[in-house]
Amino acid sequence: MQLDPAAILRDRFSDAISRVYPQAAGQADALIAPSKRGTPGDFQCNAAMALGKLVGQNPREVARAIVEAVDTGDLTESLGEGSIAGPGFINITLRAEALAGLLGALAGPELGLPPAAEPQKIVVDLCGVNLAKQMHVGHLRAMVIGDAVARTLERLGHEVVRQNHVGDWGLPIAMVIDELHHESVAGRIDLSAITLDDLDAIYKAMKKRTDAGRTGLRLAEKWDLGPKVIAELRAEVDDADEALARAKSTLVALQSGQDWAVALWQRVSDITMSACMDACRRLHTRITLEHSAGESSYRDELAPMIDDMLHRGVAEEDGGALVVRGEGEDPPALVRKGDGGFLYATTDVAAIRRRVRDMGASRVVYFVDSRQSLHFRQVFAAARKAGYANTPDGRLASLEHAAFGTILGADGRPFKTRSGESVKLADLLDEAHERAERVVIEKSPEMEPQRRWATAETIAIAALKFADLANDRVRDYVFDFDRVMAFEGDTGPYLLYALVRIRGIFREAVQRGVGESWKAATVHLGHEAEKQLALALLRYPSVVRAVGEHLEPHRLCQHLLEIANRFSGFYDACKVLSAEDATTRDSRLWLCDLTARVLGDGLGVLGLPTLERM
Ligand code: ARG
Repeated sequence: MQLDPAAILRDRFSDAISRVYPQAAGQADALIAPSKRGTPGDFQCNAAMALGKLVGQNPREVARAIVEAVDTGDLTESLGEGSIAGPGFINITLRAEALAGLLGALAGPELGLPPAAEPQKIVVDLCGVNLAKQMHVGHLRAMVIGDAVARTLERLGHEVVRQNHVGDWGLPIAMVIDELHHESVAGRIDLSAITLDDLDAIYKAMKKRTDAGRTGLRLAEKWDLGPKVIAELRAEVDDADEALARAKSTLVALQSGQDWAVALWQRVSDITMSACMDACRRLHTRITLEHSAGESSYRDELAPMIDDMLHRGVAEEDGGALVVRGEGEDPPALVRKGDGGFLYATTDVAAIRRRVRDMGASRVVYFVDSRQSLHFRQVFAAARKAGYANTPDGRLASLEHAAFGTILGADGRPFKTRSGESVKLADLLDEAHERAERVVIEKSPEMEPQRRWATAETIAIAALKFADLANDRVRDYVFDFDRVMAFEGDTGPYLLYALVRIRGIFREAVQRGVGESWKAATVHLGHEAEKQLALALLRYPSVVRAVGEHLEPHRLCQHLLEIANRFSGFYDACKVLSAEDATTRDSRLWLCDLTARVLGDGLGVLGLPTLERM
């Protein structure tokens, strides 16, 4: 049921317009907008001007015809000649009782969001960490945005399956395992004490080592830079070749399930995933180990899948490699290398097949960096061509890459530490915590340390998550710690504070012995500020639905800020506990309670932790 008056009006006016002007069907928008301050009415319909041009009639005539035809039920005061202003604006005034009725409907246990009539099974691909690599700020986005959308879809009544497509297979991992093997056999490292930072360092060193020298050597030979230089570079390249050859044989050992290699892989996986789960927990996400389906989990499915694609002519030979040609301009997806090896894309095609065919998802959404857009277009096209995107009941599943932009530093370049490294996620969380704790000490010096720690942690996590969610998903955004952590402005702490403030009103009500008569109150929206708050609250359900449809949590972030701001406006303008009479007080307490419930629900949908007091 639609509760948002603007949306109801849009429907009713569109309906009237298409009845009166069938020739304008599909072109005429009802153009419903909130009235500007100082003009009569709550909304206006601005359709008559454009429509007049379209049908060759005086816009005031058009407005008159619309007003005559429209049926707004008892939502508005009756419309007539007097509602038409200027060249053909139609002023619309909502009836206070109608508005109160809509609010009453919103205040039900579901807050206007009953479970979807046709729940879908939706896979949300999120997190996507890589073994032996430290998590950095980019993963914040893949975890936080992905989880917020997963929660939104759950809130809407869909069945959501989170999938953490961990990069846990292939040559780079084999390189790390090979090095661990050699170093531990030589007694130079203690496997039981190794950390993710150690693994990260080994990963980087091995990558550097295996990349070394090749271009340099080619150039040195071309320009004949002398035997000494060439010999040095050749030694580097030989070393790289040797390391690579060893890694390849380790990969074979791993693939064929040799105990020592599997045990080391497990160790690397345990260390990485335990750090990853710490971050997921700390970030207040619902991502757990049970959601991990790493690349390794597809390893036995790849060869038969490629055979199937080859067999049916979906994949074709191209210069020794196997490719799947797509629909548009994009280069084909490479699914098997000349040496027989499989790639990132191969695994992703297999993942679609499992998610759609085996798990029965009708929608698969990917929260991955926008730099992988081409990859996903290719993979989606390949999966569709192979028929792997068809659900068991024969429908085409929707595959969507919800791409996100990069977090930038103050200099407008990707956020880095002073030494030029990418910022470790754990360090970012720690710094946010420290900053929050400083503020808590300042504001509430008497708070005992344990509670202070927990309060600071909640504020820090809410601040970071909100900052990440509130920006248009596809855009890059500049991360400014001072702004993110501020208690005023468009921030997470501000929203937490708004909620705490409302909860405080009810604590005070108890102290004043107000009782619970407000729970049965009939709301009366006598003051403009109350009406404005009510209108924002009534938009809540459609905003949550839009987040689910467009996969854009920033819409809800902006809307919650608007509710908080309007609450502030209301609270400044209207006395609540010391209202003129008990009826007004109860009506306002009822409105406060509904506001708190909507804010609380919205913060829950976004996955922000909240506080009882601040
Ligand atoms: N591990 C990948 C990376 O770091 C991200 C995985 C995203 N998910 C996927 N199905 N490809 O780039």
